[in-house]
Amino acid sequence: MSNPRQSAHPIDPLFIERWSPRAFTEEAITESQLMSLLEAARWAPSAYNIQPWRFVFARRGTDAWTPIFDSLVEFNRMWSQRAAALVVIVSAREALFPGKTEPVPNPSHAFDAGAAWASLAFQAQLSGWSAHAMAGFDADRLRTAIALPEGYAIDTVVAVGRKGDPAVLPEGVRARELPSDRRPLADSAFEGRFGAQG
Ligand SMILES: Cc1cc2nc3c(=O)[nH]c(=O)nc-3n(C[C@H](O)[C@H](O)[C@H](O)COP(=O)(O)O)c2cc1C
Repeated sequence: MSNPRQSAHPIDPLFIERWSPRAFTEEAITESQLMSLLEAARWAPSAYNIQPWRFVFARRGTDAWTPIFDSLVEFNRMWSQRAAALVVIVSAREALFPGKTEPVPNPSHAFDAGAAWASLAFQAQLSGWSAHAMAGFDADRLRTAIALPEGYAIDTVVAVGRKGDPAVLPEGVRARELPSDRRPLADSAFEGRFGAQG
């Protein structure tokens, strides 16, 4: 399928070629292929280099898959059943900052975990895989499923798979199986003062 996305300013094609498919081929991913995506996530920047993220992964067909998969909302289970792996991205709410003796709340834990997600997604794109983040899960159920300690927030669950034929999806979802657009940059980027028109 051709990609209808147009960049208004010069950027590497990677940024518009990445998108979040729901149709996957059911191809399995090897542990080393998956580690390569998590390795990219590991190198994300974070405040004070705290690296608040942790990744709990499960490949389809392993014992770890079902408890994580079962915590997804029905809509997400419908399409992610063909994914090769699920990666739960969690982050520590508190951190021991330089010069402190006690952990204190880390205001950027979710922001930094978001950087890790983006790194994973772009490495997936570079490696011929696709990543699709999901906020649609039962947090309590997932917390139990992955034995998440107190003090960690669940940021997202990422489905990783090989992009497949949209025909595997139900009709309404199939119609949305294409790269989405973005609002103009001028609606998001302001010089000096919020909302200022350039
Ligand atoms: C944190 C986060 C949560 C999301 N949750 C879901 C979800 O539960 N189910 C789903 O189908 N897509 C979900 N998405 C996918 C977004 O809808 C998608 O990224 C957005 O529409 C932009 O499209 P693109 O990623 O194809 O560029 C989520 C994306 C992010 C980043």
